[in-house]
Amino acid sequence: MSDIQNLLGETMITSRISTGVPGLDIMISGGLIPGRTYLIKGAPGTGKTTLAMHFAMAGVANGENVLYITLEEPGENIKQDFSKMGFDVYNENFTLIDATPTTEHYVLVEDFFESFAKNLAKLTDAIKEQFRTKRYSRIVIDPITMLKFTASNELEYRKAFLAFVKSMMRLRTTVVLTSENTQVDIEEYLVDGVLQLEIFEREGRLERAIKILKFRGSGFDNVIRPYEITERGMIVYPDKSIV
Ligand SMILES: Nc1ncnc2c1ncn2[C@@H]1O[C@H](COP(=O)(O)OP(=O)(O)OP(=O)(O)O)[C@@H](O)[C@H]1O
Ligand SMILES: [Mg+2]
Repeated sequence: MSDIQNLLGETMITSRISTGVPGLDIMISGGLIPGRTYLIKGAPGTGKTTLAMHFAMAGVANGENVLYITLEEPGENIKQDFSKMGFDVYNENFTLIDATPTTEHYVLVEDFFESFAKNLAKLTDAIKEQFRTKRYSRIVIDPITMLKFTASNELEYRKAFLAFVKSMMRLRTTVVLTSENTQVDIEEYLVDGVLQLEIFEREGRLERAIKILKFRGSGFDNVIRPYEITERGMIVYPDKSIV
């Protein structure tokens, strides 16, 4: 490989895109690596959707097209809650697809695509289909948890997950997935980075902390850092620790 090719490769891997969360990019050497797939893990209410929305809105603020697929929380609730926090959820570059199930059928909020929620292989196809009309540089799937239960066994899910990650790479889009599981899961091995959100109790107060479990292709902050959720969203304190 020539020096120029080396340099280009180096430039490509070191150029980063913002998570949109104040303080968080510092923990991951400047931001996410474009074209990769990342997982945000955490217990209920830790702020997974908030972090994913910051990532989406950082793209929108940059003039990029962003696709956000919600699988559990109704799209209308997401729009209401996050517009109150000052997020630009009604921007035309932001496409929110509501694929949340109801008891009998799938609900239609803005757009309805049952195939987005059927299983991971169908979701991959549905995303590729979306790209026929528009190119999205950021995609959020919130959460991925339910799709796992549509696979008949672990091997099938692992294959579908790998195919999904490869397809997203080919589409040159950066993906943020959220997951409700806190134990180690298949996805953790297959994605490029894992960020874990935690809530814990200290001196009678609930506190929040973020840790980077994995970040391929880069160094990262291995200190667990505190974060807050305020009426303007999430803030990470990269110069503080929780002790
Ligand atoms: N204005 C606000 N001020 C402070 N905290 C807030 C505010 N709005 C929301 N929150 C906090 O954000 C949390 C919800 O964050 P979010 O919906 O991103 O979590 P989540 O991990 O996606 O939850 P779930 O597992 O239910 O999907 C709430 O539990 C609440 O504590
Ligand atoms: Mg959520």
